[in-house]
Amino acid sequence: MLSHADNEMLTRIGSGTPMGAVIRKYWIPALTSDEVPEKGGDPVRVRLLGESLIAFRDSSGEVGLVGEHCSHRGASLYFARNQDCSLQCVYHGWRFDKNGKCLETPNELPESTLKHRASIAAYPCVERNGVIWTYMGGGTELPALPDIEWNLVPANHVHISKRVQECNWAQTLEGGIDSSHGSFLHALNEASDYSGGHRRGWGYLLKDRHPRFEVEDTSYGVLLGVRRNAEDDSYYWRITQFLMPFYTMIPPYGPNPSIHGHAFVPMDDHTTLVWTVTWHPNRPLTKAESGDGGAYEKLGGGVHLTARDLLPKTNAPAGAWYPRANKSNDYMIDRSAQRTTRFSGVPGIAAQDAAVQESMGPIYDRANEHLGAADAGIARVRRRFLQAARELTEHGSKPVGVHDGSVYQVRSAAVVLPRDANWVAAASDWLNIKPGVHMDAA
Ligand code: FES
Ligand SMILES: [Fe+2]
Repeated sequence: MLSHADNEMLTRIGSGTPMGAVIRKYWIPALTSDEVPEKGGDPVRVRLLGESLIAFRDSSGEVGLVGEHCSHRGASLYFARNQDCSLQCVYHGWRFDKNGKCLETPNELPESTLKHRASIAAYPCVERNGVIWTYMGGGTELPALPDIEWNLVPANHVHISKRVQECNWAQTLEGGIDSSHGSFLHALNEASDYSGGHRRGWGYLLKDRHPRFEVEDTSYGVLLGVRRNAEDDSYYWRITQFLMPFYTMIPPYGPNPSIHGHAFVPMDDHTTLVWTVTWHPNRPLTKAESGDGGAYEKLGGGVHLTARDLLPKTNAPAGAWYPRANKSNDYMIDRSAQRTTRFSGVPGIAAQDAAVQESMGPIYDRANEHLGAADAGIARVRRRFLQAARELTEHGSKPVGVHDGSVYQVRSAAVVLPRDANWVAAASDWLNIKPGVHMDAA
């Protein structure tokens, strides 16, 4: 549990809040390049860390991310004309470049100097392998881009989907590091449904539903080891990373596996844009891995939402990423499936997570919790966040990973190890990236 004050500190990320300051120290994935595909194309609404923003690719091809409202009298620059390396407000024609500089105030007299005092907020952006990263921390010193593997592999080795979840980012993130819920929320009712081949790990998962948890602080965040009984002399370890400020990696299954990860990006205190990423270090993804859900048919869908799982696109922030299964229809829970096939009855891994995490309310009051041993990872990650916020506020200390992008060069793992092995050392070939090497998972 957390005190009310700590709960507030953990969850609030608006401008001027302690946790908002921590997250603003990092580059943040704002959108994908294909959301602003053309030079001089349509501006796009973005909501990030409680701020309403407009993204656009200017006529020179550079991406800008600026405050939504024109500094003249506040009209939305969503309606602006994107031309001449600037957004031109359609109300009175004021023009702003991607750095937020006001270039022109054409309804004023020619001798007016108003434009020199009329800049708008603007955040630097860089594009890398199809992702537009932004830095909202201010100042002149930029952090290092995280060398996270899914943003370094060729385009056909990675698939990114997104979904809006209508609850606080920390609640969503805590679902991502909550290693015991997979045996329940995402389970089928019969262990036999997982038998054979690459489903061996699932079998262990279902047979041992009260795993042991170990957590280690690392240079990027927290390493979480979850141990289940495998055979008489071995344990099945599922090892996952939490990487500051909001990334997780899901342990894989089977030989030569692709890996799933998440970024839980706060849109505002009550809304999270969940980026789901699947990647393979060395080969293109198959169609199933790119989200057609085939491998997860019995669960009603996988981690990625596809076009059929999403509501029709709107021009609201993240308006392409609202799930069809949502609070208004009880996430399409199927009570008959709950009795027979799927533990939760909710179709699909993504909707299962959304159902339980949104059901906790927009910001759960953690003073009401009863944490157990299975929540050790969650408790540790919270502690890291609260420490980071206090150290930044009180001493100006930057949180981990801000200066060194190479600490993100890690992968999750699922391995069977001898019972007497030290899990961190014994799994290091799986956990630490070596170029060209990719290990099988159990
Ligand atoms: S409100 Fe934008 S130019 Fe007047
Ligand atoms: Fe989940």
